[in-house]
Amino acid sequence: MEGSSRRFDIIKVGFIGFGEVASTMASKLLAMGIEVLTATKGRSERTRTLAHDLGVSECDDIREVSRKSDIVISAVTPGVAVKVAKKVGDHVKGVYVDINNVAPSTVKEALSHISNGRVVDAAIMGRITKDLRVKILASGDSAHEFARLSDYGFNIEVRSGRVGDASALKMLRSSYTKGVSALLWETLLAAYNMGLDEDLLEILEETEGEGFRERAISRVMSLAFHSKRRYEEMKDVKSFLSENITPIMSKCTSKIFKEIIMRLDDLGRSFEDYSMIFDHIKRSL
Ligand SMILES: NC(=O)c1ccc[n+]([C@@H]2O[C@H](COP(=O)([O-])OP(=O)(O)OC[C@H]3O[C@@H](n4cnc5c(N)ncnc54)[C@H](OP(=O)(O)O)[C@@H]3O)[C@@H](O)[C@H]2O)c1
Repeated sequence: MEGSSRRFDIIKVGFIGFGEVASTMASKLLAMGIEVLTATKGRSERTRTLAHDLGVSECDDIREVSRKSDIVISAVTPGVAVKVAKKVGDHVKGVYVDINNVAPSTVKEALSHISNGRVVDAAIMGRITKDLRVKILASGDSAHEFARLSDYGFNIEVRSGRVGDASALKMLRSSYTKGVSALLWETLLAAYNMGLDEDLLEILEETEGEGFRERAISRVMSLAFHSKRRYEEMKDVKSFLSENITPIMSKCTSKIFKEIIMRLDDLGRSFEDYSMIFDHIKRSL
């Protein structure tokens, strides 16, 4: 009983920006009977079609979206996160959530423009998929209000009451996972060149646990596929870490990613296993 009465506390969810993230979330909310609002005037054909096809309620502009929504989610191109927050800052009546992939300092700046102070820093920990299983970390004064969307199939985890913490955790995780991938790449490449890659994977599995072999190979393949994106993301990680420490590892990680881009060019996706990748690198030297 309690669950069903809570479910309809949130009656309107608005989106600023209506691309992949907004349309995926909106689709789930609409299916659960929640009204979804956005404004697509002046936006691209893709954005207008996504909103129209789902039957989202159209507002005149993002200020109207902000006035009418119980929760308004900013899901825009990262470069305009601050600009849109500034534009709607005095119009937000409910809770404003910045879910963009931006540094903690940027999210703090964006949220400082929301004059009612009901703000949430949210970080999607991976790619968004239709089932919405991806974890979304949330921090800030109103994080618990945003987390009520978990009743509608979202996977939201509140980490703290401080704006910036969710985005910082995402960056720190990124620093760790990318660093591990770079280390694996370098070590496995050296082992492959010596004809010892199979032995190395076997020995490491003894200490790293079952499934390590598959995970390691998957990381190496994924790095070859996405080296350009990873390299770009490392720039943000490095500058974020620099605010707190003098980073060393992340600089090396970036160097390795750059080397991979140089050696593979755009061929990353065309290889079926790591031996093909490493053979190609050997030939390019
Ligand atoms: N996709 C994911 O799996 C994922 C995962 C983690 C984090 N994120 C973050 O979530 C945010 C949204 O990602 P997405 O994949 O949905 O991006 P997207 O598909 O590129 O959509 C971005 C949306 O923002 C709109 N937009 C751009 N500038 C705007 C402005 N000044 N005012 C209003 N709307 C504006 C775009 O409209 P136009 O089409 O007219 O340009 C588009 O509708 C990004 O910050 C991204 O880094 C995404």
